Amino acid sequence: MTGDHKRSLMENYLLRTMNANTALTLPQSQSRLPIERRIMRFDYKDIESPVFHSDNAVVSAYWVGLSSSFPLGEAEFIKSVRLFEDQITDARLKDEVQDFAAQEAHHGLQHKLVNKRFDEVGYKTSHIEKFMVEKLDERVRNWSPEKRLMHTVAAEHFTATMAHYALTHADTLGIEPDSVHNLFLWHAIEEIEHKSVAFDVYLNCVGNRFKLRRHYAFFAFIEFPLNMIAMTRFLLKDRGHKTTWAERKGMWQHLFGKQGLFRACWGQYMSFFKKDFHPWQHDDSALVAEWKEKLAPYFAHQPQ
Ligand SMILES: [Fe+2]
Ligand SMILES: [Fe+2]
Repeated sequence: MTGDHKRSLMENYLLRTMNANTALTLPQSQSRLPIERRIMRFDYKDIESPVFHSDNAVVSAYWVGLSSSFPLGEAEFIKSVRLFEDQITDARLKDEVQDFAAQEAHHGLQHKLVNKRFDEVGYKTSHIEKFMVEKLDERVRNWSPEKRLMHTVAAEHFTATMAHYALTHADTLGIEPDSVHNLFLWHAIEEIEHKSVAFDVYLNCVGNRFKLRRHYAFFAFIEFPLNMIAMTRFLLKDRGHKTTWAERKGMWQHLFGKQGLFRACWGQYMSFFKKDFHPWQHDDSALVAEWKEKLAPYFAHQPQ
C-alpha cells in the first residue's frame, strides 16, 4: 500500500467519523419558545345562553363544535407523537414532547369543563364526542403511525394559524362570555409555544415532505371543512334550531368576510406548501409575550 493510498483511507475514515458525530449531535428541535406548563382557572358560569357570539346561533355552534372536538382530538395528537418518542435522539426535542403532551392534556381538560357548561345551556356535545370516537377508532385501526403523525402535524399548523388569528384579532373575535374568550386566547398562546414539536418529530423520524404536503391538502381542503360543517349542523339540529339566512350570511362573514378567520389565515395556511416550510418561519414569539402578560391573572401556576 502506497503512502498516498494510506493517507486517503485515513482521510475517508476521519470524514466518515466527523459526519457520524455531526449527525448525532445535530439539534432536531427548532422551537423558539419555552413550552410552559400552566394550570388555568376559568369559571364558565358566565355562559348563560347557547347563543354567545354576535347574536348568531350558527357562529356560536361553530365554536362549540370546535371546543367539543378538542378533548378527544388533542388526546390523539399526544398519542400520535408519542408513537415516535423512542426514535428521537435530541434531548431538547424529547423534553418538548413531554411539555407538548402536558399542554394538550390540559387543553383537553379545560375544553371538557367548558363543554359541560355548553351542555347545561342547551347543547349536546356528547353527539360530537360520539362522532369523534368513531372517526378516531377507524383511524387507529387503519392508519399507519406515520399517517397519524402527518395528520397531527397538519392539524397543528391549522391550530397555530388560528391561534395567531385569535391573538391578533382578540377585540373582534366576538366571543362574548369572558371565560370562553380567555379560554381560546390561553389555548392560542400554548398552540404557538408548541407549534413546531410534532413537525420536528415528523421531520426527524419520518421526513417525507412530499407526503406531508399531500396529506395537509387533504386535511385543509376536505377533512377539516367537512367536519366543521357536520359538527355545527349536529349541534344546531340537536337544539331544534332553524337556521335563518341572516345567520348563514353572518357565518360566511365570520369565516370569509374582510376580517374573516379563513381569509385572514389564508397566507399562513398556504405557506405549509413551501418546500422548506417550518412553523417558526412565522415568528409570533413577541405576540405570545404580549398575551402571556395580559392573561397572567388566569394562570394559577406560572413556572419559574
Ligand atoms: Fe391544544
Ligand atoms: Fe397543539
